[in-house]
Amino acid sequence: MNRQSLDNPSDPSLSRVDGAVKVTGKATYSAEYAIPGLLHAVLVTSTIAKGSITAIDSHEAEAVPGVLAVISHVNAMTIPGWPPKKQPAERVPPGTAFRVFYDSLIYFDGQPVAMVVAATHEQAVHAASLVHVTYQQEPHRTHFEKNIAHSGIPLNVQRSKNSPFQDYERGDAAALRNADVRIEAEYTIPTQHHQPLEPHAIIAVWEADDKLTVYDKNQGVKSAQGQLAQAFKLPRENVQVVATYIGGAFGSGIRVWPHTMAAVMAAKQLKRPLKLVLGREQMFTSVGYRPYTKQKISIGAAKDGRLAGIVHEGTGQTSMYEEHLERTVLASRALYACPHVATRYRLLPLDVNTPTWMRGPGDATGMFALESAMDELAYALKTDPLELRLKNFAESDPERNLPWSAKALRECYELGAEKIGWKNRLPEPRSVKRNGMLLGYGMASSLYGFHRHPSKARAAMQADGSVIVQSATMDIGPGTGTAMTRIASKVLGVNAKKVRFDLGHSALPDAPGQNGSSTIPSVGSAVHVACEALKSKLVALAGEMPEGLKSGGQVVVRNGRIFSSQDDKEGISYADILKYHRLNELEVTEESKSGAERDQYSMYSFGCHFVEVEVNPLTGEVRVTRVVTCADVGAIINYKTARSQSIGGVVGGIGMALMEHSEMDHRFGRYVTTDFASYHIPVHADVPPIEVYYVDKPDVQANPIGSKGLGEIAIVGVAAAIANAVFHATGKRVRELPITPDKLI
Ligand code: MOS
Repeated sequence: MNRQSLDNPSDPSLSRVDGAVKVTGKATYSAEYAIPGLLHAVLVTSTIAKGSITAIDSHEAEAVPGVLAVISHVNAMTIPGWPPKKQPAERVPPGTAFRVFYDSLIYFDGQPVAMVVAATHEQAVHAASLVHVTYQQEPHRTHFEKNIAHSGIPLNVQRSKNSPFQDYERGDAAALRNADVRIEAEYTIPTQHHQPLEPHAIIAVWEADDKLTVYDKNQGVKSAQGQLAQAFKLPRENVQVVATYIGGAFGSGIRVWPHTMAAVMAAKQLKRPLKLVLGREQMFTSVGYRPYTKQKISIGAAKDGRLAGIVHEGTGQTSMYEEHLERTVLASRALYACPHVATRYRLLPLDVNTPTWMRGPGDATGMFALESAMDELAYALKTDPLELRLKNFAESDPERNLPWSAKALRECYELGAEKIGWKNRLPEPRSVKRNGMLLGYGMASSLYGFHRHPSKARAAMQADGSVIVQSATMDIGPGTGTAMTRIASKVLGVNAKKVRFDLGHSALPDAPGQNGSSTIPSVGSAVHVACEALKSKLVALAGEMPEGLKSGGQVVVRNGRIFSSQDDKEGISYADILKYHRLNELEVTEESKSGAERDQYSMYSFGCHFVEVEVNPLTGEVRVTRVVTCADVGAIINYKTARSQSIGGVVGGIGMALMEHSEMDHRFGRYVTTDFASYHIPVHADVPPIEVYYVDKPDVQANPIGSKGLGEIAIVGVAAAIANAVFHATGKRVRELPITPDKLI
């Protein structure tokens, strides 16, 4: 417990196993595979938000030297897995994934309408500017606030009684009326876009007519393999997806997007390998985003601070063709011991592309509202905000009426409060200045559900005593290979340098994509059980050797050797075991998944953030000057990479709270902030020292490694903590993100 920059000296963290290849440029990213005869593709996108294409004039583009094709709905191949086209074209019903180059209909501005394929990228870019598209325009709806009357219960929810997004009520939320103190407020989160440094990119290679390999930036090679196999009606094994290195992602790569389909179909049509890299501006309409969301919270308490009720309503935007659902209101059911809770979730379909999951999807959004409202309530009650949370601490899950598998949120609160110096904070808002700046402190809680999916791992001892571990998991940034190497090296007692972990290829053993903070809990467990099984096999083989292990003792593994007990000084090396048995390799593949414990316990990761801000009283500029972030995610597998993940979450939260905002010109239904000059994300100068603390106690109910997810809770609640600190500094409550200077002066 309580480790900051001091790693555990007796068990130090691993540095990233792939750090050297990444910083020396030896790691190959999706767009970097040198495939002979590679063609280059560039998308042409729509300039209207709704309507249809009446003509595509590609003569000029086709005349550009090097151009091989201009592909659009007019000449695109038929995708075998898609339904036959209708004549005349008809708008798809909600719930239908967008089909690229399918018909003449336009669903959003920035929709791919054609793709130019040329020998060089430059030729394709130039030719794309010469494709002339004419449209029949129809009036569009893109403005969230002006169209809120069109929101409703999602069709998916209407169809499914058991949907978690159904209206929910426990107790009698109307009892709120009688609360001693009551707050009611609306909170707005604007559209915010994924901005990984590496844009999405794909190289598609067909062999013959029925074998496809794609080097594609995504978060799940197995699911991409399945989706592509289905679309092209191929056996799964005929499709291979490679995504070994990924230059950042946090939700944008969870599904196969239209640009990927476009590249794969064009490569097939032209019978040539082909590369497509999205431009930064195309990232805004190609790979989803955190949806614009409006929330209303009514919350009340008795004079002593005990919650009397919470009503949490949320409406998020989606496209006209698909429903993207988020956990926006769900945390309000589980975080506090409140007997009366109601939640309602609605969707507003607009003429935009479909949103997607973005770090802490729904929870980061919902927790901004809930934890801001808790802060408002604390001030109204004249209670310390942390006191109010402790007073309503949920000792068991009030939603499912189950015990928590583990919950050290109280320890997180204590740790965070101590480290930030919470008790020295003067309660009165706008009461303290430092160097002429208004000084404020705020805090918020964090919670994220536990996701563990069936996962397989293969562990193979090599003749030289080195170990290869494999799973079709991913690394979108957190250092998956490093954590898995650590698990394998500990279980087998081999130096981490002798372990190789392979990921990011669909031919590897089945594993979930990297999402929902599920990788360590799921794949980490599989690696653990596979290495345990391999160890057992090795112990058994050692027992068959003439100078084998003496039986009876507790076997110990260390330095690539098995010892029959602590007192055994000699042991047998793994290499000798394989040599004696004349094996080049000894391998096992194991699967690990959840069991009955999921019905016996409620499982979450928990955490909290404490923030210090300085606000310039003249300009309204907010500087986050200190952050203390604490988490209880069970056992920490590799402290160094975990800490980096927590820091990344806070940085994302600073962006969400203070900067990120995709601005649309609604006359055209078009985003106008489509570069880093206008879509602001935190840079180094915006990021203060961030202190990270973990409780680091295994959750023994969760899985064999006692470790829960960390990626999402790292951001969940950060925006609220910052908004609460800004209120404390200035006395101004900003309920609409981002908190820009204009909202404070
Ligand atoms: Mo995450 S938003 O599940 O990559």
